Amino acid sequence: MTIEFRDVVKRYPDGTVAVDGLSLTVEDGTITVFVGPSGCGKTTSLRMINRMVEPTSGTVLLDGKDVCDGDPAVLRRGIGYVIQHAGLFPHRTVLDNIATVPLLSGWDKRKARARAAELLETVGLPTELGKRYPAQLSGGQQQRVGVARALAADSPVLLMDEPFSAVDPVVREGLQDELLRLQSQLGKTIVFVTHDIDEAVRLGDKVAVMRVGGKLAQYGTPAEVLRHPVDDFVASFVGRDRGYRGLSFLPGSGVEVSPARTIDLGSKLDGPSEGWQLAVNEEKQPRGWLPPGSTVDGPLAETDLVAGGSLYVQGTPIRGALDAALSSPASLGVVVDEENRVLGTVVAHQVLDVIEASPQAS
Ligand SMILES: Nc1ncnc2c1ncn2[C@@H]1O[C@H](COP(=O)(O)OP(=O)(O)OP(=O)(O)O)[C@@H](O)[C@H]1O
Ligand SMILES: [Mg+2]
Repeated sequence: MTIEFRDVVKRYPDGTVAVDGLSLTVEDGTITVFVGPSGCGKTTSLRMINRMVEPTSGTVLLDGKDVCDGDPAVLRRGIGYVIQHAGLFPHRTVLDNIATVPLLSGWDKRKARARAAELLETVGLPTELGKRYPAQLSGGQQQRVGVARALAADSPVLLMDEPFSAVDPVVREGLQDELLRLQSQLGKTIVFVTHDIDEAVRLGDKVAVMRVGGKLAQYGTPAEVLRHPVDDFVASFVGRDRGYRGLSFLPGSGVEVSPARTIDLGSKLDGPSEGWQLAVNEEKQPRGWLPPGSTVDGPLAETDLVAGGSLYVQGTPIRGALDAALSSPASLGVVVDEENRVLGTVVAHQVLDVIEASPQAS
């Protein structure tokens, strides 16, 4: 299926223009990557394809048909969607998670589970894992289950929003390889969102570089974008990250971790919140960000929060700290320990200072 954006604008009710005049065509059977800094409108653009967000003006066409004609539930059931942290249902087994869409589409339980078991194998997981619950899997395994669940829709279109950014770089490369292998067999039309130019170049047949303000800066093959950036923004976005490739091996020491301003889920706010606050659960694990000036009636719930960016596990390569800071809506990268508990936050410019001061950065 081809996906066409025609002069699409999304203005949120508060006046934020998240996407400004986006026009591009995603070719049938290819991987197109939307890449750009945090807040540039990648997620908004992606969600306009399955109508989780409706355009303010312009049209999004699937094989020439406006996605806004027809039933959104039917549309969504026909489009696979994978998000960061896989978004699995915690109280359903792995198998039942994967079988979600077939069951919704009216398959009987046995058939849906049999299909789910097949898909487990497709994404390279042993069938025994089917009986477990998501919390009993590693982050990388959860992402694979997320991909399997999206494939279960058996739809020609797959939308993936930073699906691999919460896992460590080694697991991430494995997942990227797996996706490329799957795609060579399945030939789906995939739109993949990331803020990591390396990932974009590795996965994309085409790359759409976006800038804050929701403008498309450049759309082309990875080689075109790398060799002939159209302007300074693209050059620095593509170039800076390129120059820092070696830093994947730099340990993250020297990065200043500041105390995080956290707030417990379930707590009550006295008045509008001040600054960005990181909401944590009872285990002190991050659950999302509470934006400045939020007012919440009743106990603080996950629905009051803005989703966070990638997490940086302390002690892992510094690249992850930069990713965490750049992907965070608060511009504060969240640092966690191996149990995913919050240790503090980092800011991008300080991480960059450490990288620049290092003899390995060139
Ligand atoms: N529901 C909303 N209401 C108001 N503004 C919003 C809403 N959702 C997103 N925005 C704003 O729209 C802009 C684009 O957001 P979007 O989530 O599409 O960016 P993104 O490129 O996916 O960023 P990230 O890399 O951090 O995920 C941002 O300025 C964001 O704050
Ligand atoms: Mg996003």
